[in-house]
Amino acid sequence: IIANWKMNPDTSDKAVTLVQTIEQAITGISDVEVVIASPFPFLSSIATILTHAKLGSQNAFWEDKGAYTGEISADMIKNLGVKYVLIGHSERRQDHPEETNEIINKKIIKALKNGLKIIFCIGERERDTKGCYFHFIKKEILEGLEGIDGKEADNIIIAYEPIWAIGAKAQRADRPDDTLKIVDFIREVLSSIFGKNLSRKIPVLYGGSVDADNAQDFLKNGGVQGLLVGRSSLDGKIFSKILKDADV
Ligand code: 13P
Repeated sequence: IIANWKMNPDTSDKAVTLVQTIEQAITGISDVEVVIASPFPFLSSIATILTHAKLGSQNAFWEDKGAYTGEISADMIKNLGVKYVLIGHSERRQDHPEETNEIINKKIIKALKNGLKIIFCIGERERDTKGCYFHFIKKEILEGLEGIDGKEADNIIIAYEPIWAIGAKAQRADRPDDTLKIVDFIREVLSSIFGKNLSRKIPVLYGGSVDADNAQDFLKNGGVQGLLVGRSSLDGKIFSKILKDADV
């Protein structure tokens, strides 16, 4: 279960308090891997207090160093204790038009090379009646994972997040039985890249308006192995309930 805090909370103190609540909740569960994808400025302070959850970041650049003002390399965050990195989140694709499938592929290659596990985010803008979204998702996967060796299968997580289901303005969360169809399709595409056996190692997660009421339904009926949680990960109580529900 991955918490994507996005550009929240607003202070380091609040970030630390939230981590403490989450860590407390994890002590009561036995079989859930938890990742907290924090904004860059909080990574160092969070790293010192994490005991069960793993540290994640929300982006990493595709070069190791150099004249790239404002960018942060995979190596830099790895040295802060980061184990997981979100790549290709739709909010980045949307707000940074240069964040194309090609650039996302470069970021994935670099992050994997630096020993990070990647959470590769995909998802359609619109669920059209003609089923064009299947092609869209396939293209995102094929172009994003272009040239990635099957040996990396252990280090790849796919997060399926339909864009229309994300955030406060979302129409609704997906329906788990619809998610299931898309997850099956994602698995087919992964299998065409890595072969059936290796692709089975890749967890597929759902994200988009996950809350304490629907988390278990997605995990039971959506065909996913985990969840990428936005707003509900910022409330210690709600996120703790999601973790508990995932621990079955
Ligand atoms: P919400 O859970 O707030 O809809 O955000 C989903 C998301 O984008 C997680 O990466």
